[in-house]
Amino acid sequence: MLRKRTLKGLLSRWHKTKPDSLTYSRALWSRQAQKGELAFHKQDQKRQGVGFDANSKFLFEHFGLIREHFRGCTVIDLGAGSKLRTKYFDEAQVIAIEPLADRFLDEVPWCDLNVAHAVYSQPAEHRIEALIGCADLVISINVLDHCYNFYQIISNIRAYLKPDGVAFLSFDEHKYRDSMHPLILSDEICHEVFRDNGLAVSRHTKGFGNVKWIAKGRESYGHGDFCLNYWLSSA
Ligand SMILES: C[S@@+](CC[C@H](N)C(=O)[O-])C[C@H]1O[C@@H](n2cnc3c(N)ncnc32)[C@H](O)[C@@H]1O
Repeated sequence: MLRKRTLKGLLSRWHKTKPDSLTYSRALWSRQAQKGELAFHKQDQKRQGVGFDANSKFLFEHFGLIREHFRGCTVIDLGAGSKLRTKYFDEAQVIAIEPLADRFLDEVPWCDLNVAHAVYSQPAEHRIEALIGCADLVISINVLDHCYNFYQIISNIRAYLKPDGVAFLSFDEHKYRDSMHPLILSDEICHEVFRDNGLAVSRHTKGFGNVKWIAKGRESYGHGDFCLNYWLSSA
């Protein structure tokens, strides 16, 4: 009996961590992760309050992203959510990519995606031809572990950057996948995928350091032990 249970446990663990952790079924992502995401954003108290903008400012300043540095620049907010963190950037032209954008705009009363210069209601895996070579900054906060094809997204990010553009990506590292976090992205695999896609890592860190309070004292956005943070440019 015990041996049977152990075997079941091992199998389920293997299933959750099998090597193909950079991709997931798009159908399951849409049915489970996106459904959960919409439900979460519709009831999220944090994004309704004024504290959310202050939280974004604190987070971006911690990561060294200065609000005045991107004046007149094009900033792509990849996985923008229902409340636009990138409003933080002074006089930047913000382009939001968010698969639930149309639903957020229709169904979430405090959603402010409409202030973006352009909104694409598409997953980041979908390449948007109009954005190729146009970004001074691609930024993504707490998104990439929620997606279904890491490689495709990184390839798109590389394509969207101007020759001197930069990307900042921050997301949680997980030991196991779950329905809301389909991708397991380790530091090692991320470096490989960045390199394969012509992106150089100029800096990388783990966790939030002195801004742990952002996620109630944790070093991750909520799941996993740490978030991984990467500053990238074209190699
Ligand atoms: C935890 S929220 C973070 C939202 C926002 N970046 C923030 O920091 O407030 C994760 C967001 O990623 C979006 N997302 C999930 N899968 C995605 C994909 N394949 N492409 C782009 N965004 C995705 C979700 O719809 C959701 O809005």
